[in-house]
Amino acid sequence: MAFWNRRKSLESVSARQSHSALRPTLGWPHLMCLGIGGIVGTGIYTLIGVGAGLAGPAVILSFVVAGLVCACAALAYTEMSTMMPMAGSAYTYSYVALGELPAWFVGWTLILEYTVVCSVVAVGWSGYAGGFLRSVGVDFPEALLAGPAAGGVINVPAIVIALAVAALLALGSRESATVNMILVFVKLAALATFIALAIPAFDANNFEPFAPHGFGAKEIGDAKYGMMGAAALIFFAFYGFDAVSTAAEEAKNPGRDLKIGIVGSMVACTLIYMVVAAAAIGSTRTDVLAASSEPLAMVLRGLEHPGAARWIGIAAVVALPTVIMAFMYGQSRIFFVMARDGLLPERLSAVSESSGTPVLMTMVTGVIVAIIAGFLPLQRIAEVANAGTLVAFIAVAICMLVLRNKAPNAPRPFRTPAATLVALGAIIGCAYLFSSLPRVTIYTFLIWNAIGIAVYFIYARHQSGLARA
Ligand code: ALA
Repeated sequence: MAFWNRRKSLESVSARQSHSALRPTLGWPHLMCLGIGGIVGTGIYTLIGVGAGLAGPAVILSFVVAGLVCACAALAYTEMSTMMPMAGSAYTYSYVALGELPAWFVGWTLILEYTVVCSVVAVGWSGYAGGFLRSVGVDFPEALLAGPAAGGVINVPAIVIALAVAALLALGSRESATVNMILVFVKLAALATFIALAIPAFDANNFEPFAPHGFGAKEIGDAKYGMMGAAALIFFAFYGFDAVSTAAEEAKNPGRDLKIGIVGSMVACTLIYMVVAAAAIGSTRTDVLAASSEPLAMVLRGLEHPGAARWIGIAAVVALPTVIMAFMYGQSRIFFVMARDGLLPERLSAVSESSGTPVLMTMVTGVIVAIIAGFLPLQRIAEVANAGTLVAFIAVAICMLVLRNKAPNAPRPFRTPAATLVALGAIIGCAYLFSSLPRVTIYTFLIWNAIGIAVYFIYARHQSGLARA
C-alpha cells in the first residue's frame, strides 16, 4: 500500500478491549486528580517568574490566553480520547484521521515534547531543592546547582532526579491513584498557603507599569518579550491533562468521567493559577520574581514567612517528581505504540518480564533527560517542549474536524459543543502561540522534525506494519 494511503481503521482503536487486563475502577474524582497531578508543576512553581520577566505584570493576561487556548485543545482531546480510548493519544488519533505520515510526524514530535518536559520539571525541581538545602543550612556549591547558561557549571540535582525517576519507572513502580491524590493535595495545599500569605501584602503599585514590553511578542536577543511572548512560555503550565486520557481504559464511565476529569482539571488549574499569579505579582515586583529559581518560596521569604517558604520548598521537592514520572511514562508508551506499529525498532521498546516496563527505553530516556536538564537553560527547553505540544494540539483539533466529517455517526461518548468553533480556536490559538516562540526554538523544532522525516523515509516507511500487511 502506498504510504500516503496508510490509515488505521476507527474500529481497530475504538472498542474497549474486552481482553484488557485493566479493570474499570476509576471515577471522575480520581481522573480529575490525575489531571491536576500532571498539570501543576514547574509551570506555576517556577516559570511564573520567567514569564513575569518577559511580560511584567501583564503575565497575568498571558495566563488567561494560554488557559483559553488549552481549554479548546482539551475539549478536542476529550472527544478524541473517549472515541479512541487506547494508548498512543495524539499519535493514534492522527493515524486514524490523517494517515501514517502525519501520525509519524506527531509521534516524533511527542517524543521530543515528553522528553524535554521531563528535563524542564527536573530543572524546576532543582531550584526548589537548592533553596530548601540552603534554608536548612546545607551549603551545596552554587556552580553545581545550575547549568552554564544560568551561571553555573552543571545542574547536579536535576540530573539526580531525572535518573532516579527513570530508575523507579524501570523497576516497574507507578504511583497509585491514591498516592497521586495525596501528592495533588500537597501541591495544592502549598499553593493555598502561598495565596493566603501573599494576598495580604497585595500592593496595586506592583502592577505599574502593567505591560513594559507591550501586548505582542517582541524578539530581543534570543527571547520573546511581551504579553504574547510570555503566553507562549506560560502555556507550559497548562498541559499534562493528557495523563487523564491515558487512563481511558480504566474509567468506570468513560464518557462522563473523562469529560469531567479533563475539563474539570483544566478549569480548576486555570482558576488556581490566576489567583497565584495575582498574589505573586501583587506582593512582589516582577523583576524580583524573574530573578529567582524558586519564585514562590522567595516571595514568602521576602514577606518574612521563612517557615512557610520552607514548606513550599518541601511540597515542590516531594510532589514535582510525579510530573516527571507521568511524562516519562507517557514517552515510553508512545514509543511502545509506535514500535508495535512497526515504525520504530521493536527491540528498543521490549518489555522486561520481571518489571513489565520497557527498561532499555526508560533508561535511555532517563539519560537523555538528565543531560538536557544538567546543561541547558530552563526557559529555552520549556519553549522547545511547548513547540511540540502546540503542534500536537493542532493535530488533535484537526483530527476532531476530519472525523466529524468522515465518520459523523461513529459513537462519541463525548461530543465537543460548537466543535468547529472550538477546533478553530485551538488551531488558530496554538498556531499563534507557536509563532510567538523565539526563532531559535522554532528552528530546533524544525531540525528535529527534518531528522524525523528522514528516519521515516529511510526506515519506518518500509518497516510499517501496514506496509507489510
Ligand atoms: N504543566 C506541567 C508543569 O507545569 C508540565 O510542570
